[in-house]
Amino acid sequence: MIVGLTYDLRPEPVSGTGHDDPPDAYAEFDAPGTVEAVAGAIRAVGHEVVPLGNFPKVLAALDTLRVDLVFNIAEGVGGRSRESQIPMLLEARGIPCVGADALSLGISLDKVVAKQVFMADGIPTPRFFVVRDAAALTASPLPFPLIVKPRHEGSSKSLSDKSLVRSLGALKAQAEWLIRTYRQPALVEQFIAGTEFTVAVIGNDPPEALPVVQVEIDGRTDLGDLFYTFSRINAPGLTYRCPAKISPAAEAELRRLAVRAYEAIECRDFGRVDFRVDGQGRPYVLEINPLPSLSTEDVFTPIAERLGVSHQAMIQRILNVAIARCHLNLKDPCPTPSR
Ligand SMILES: Nc1ncnc2c1ncn2[C@@H]1O[C@H](COP(=O)(O)OP(=O)(O)OP(=O)(O)O)[C@@H](O)[C@H]1O
Ligand SMILES: [Mg+2]
Repeated sequence: MIVGLTYDLRPEPVSGTGHDDPPDAYAEFDAPGTVEAVAGAIRAVGHEVVPLGNFPKVLAALDTLRVDLVFNIAEGVGGRSRESQIPMLLEARGIPCVGADALSLGISLDKVVAKQVFMADGIPTPRFFVVRDAAALTASPLPFPLIVKPRHEGSSKSLSDKSLVRSLGALKAQAEWLIRTYRQPALVEQFIAGTEFTVAVIGNDPPEALPVVQVEIDGRTDLGDLFYTFSRINAPGLTYRCPAKISPAAEAELRRLAVRAYEAIECRDFGRVDFRVDGQGRPYVLEINPLPSLSTEDVFTPIAERLGVSHQAMIQRILNVAIARCHLNLKDPCPTPSR
């Protein structure tokens, strides 16, 4: 099989963004090592890999693409549909693609839309409101403490200790800065003090939740008010623990909710659901990532260790569920997920 690989490399200059971008503007993009890890995993099971690169390159080559399947890890550039750009092109050309389709990617990148889907499906998520004009805010609709996040970013972009606000003045100042710097509305959520987990899901009909990973910051799993800021992402104080320090019942509940969130958004092949759990043990879905990082530095490595397999084997499992879903050996068109 010939497998195309689409990706956005971190150092690659990209058009469409201004010169005054914040320092975390390209935080979602992949390091060359991640692209190599994915390519190596595909080659190791005997497929040919064709590196296709980012959206402008795929667009330019679209009419001459000769691939059976595309493994897409490109994050895209632009607004809240940026992750959908490549899957949409491939769908329009009938080329099967590993991972979620354009609609699921668009829904989940806009955290407000994703939360509305979760709420409609009875999946717990922190209460929230949206701020478009910070100056017009005269009172907070929710009690403090609150966290101020961008509506459609990932990789903890914009998050710093200032994101946790305890007064109307601090909320207005942080929301004003975020709206101006990231050119999008602010999502303001009830801050969940407690513990934090992330659950990867692989597969279709049925999807399977993998062992729960716990976030440890500065040696603490009982995080209280600590949270995952942009400056902590690659800092030594952040550790992913697998197995998580929780009861079997709590582990089962997080895995059950992860699959429900995955099915609510109609993800395919793989994804990752982030949770906070409050002091009373109540879990809240923060977000779903239908295109989670496959970096060897990220959560798939401790999960692989827990399962006694290699990181490469995890990528091959994702590839194999996509091949099975698309019935590629039968040369059928790639179906949408059955519900
Ligand atoms: N409502 C909340 N209560 C407590 N902490 C929160 C809340 N929302 C976000 N956080 C903290 O901020 C981090 C990033 O938030 P979130 O997962 O929503 O955004 P992201 O930038 O898309 O994440 P990622 O880095 O996984 O791409 C969380 O991992 C968590 O530590
Ligand atoms: Mg997250």
